Amino acid sequence: MNKFFIIFLLLCGTAQADPFADGQPEAGKKLFDQYQCNRCHNGKMGGDGNAIFTRPNRRVTNPQQLTAQINVCTRNVGANFSTQEKINLAAYLNTHFYKFK
Ligand code: HEC
Repeated sequence: MNKFFIIFLLLCGTAQADPFADGQPEAGKKLFDQYQCNRCHNGKMGGDGNAIFTRPNRRVTNPQQLTAQINVCTRNVGANFSTQEKINLAAYLNTHFYKFK
């Protein structure tokens, strides 16, 4: 088989994969509530902090940016999350709001 075709197939596979397949959304949701992640977002969004993830001009437009923003906001809450915990948070936000493929 043509090697470019194989590369093409590999790229297609990557594009469709869940970017946070290793994360557990339920565990992420628990952390999100436990650390009151929406406490700043609530103020910014007039009470509904979750709206920050679906607003038309939202900052995060791809999985890499979601990871980066979680790193920034994790420092905001003063938590020292493990890599797995951050992936769980990303999986939660992606499953419910961003829906990146
Ligand atoms: C100390 C305040 C504060 C806390 C606590 C906080 N954030 Fe944020 N968050 C912000 C600010 C400020 C922004 C950017 C708002 C803007 O750019 O308009 C933001 C934006 C975000 C975005 C991007 C929203 C978009 O526009 O797409 C994500 C994702 C996010 N936060 C996740 C989290 C998570 C997860 C936690 C809990 C671990 C958390 N935040 C806790 C202040 C906070």
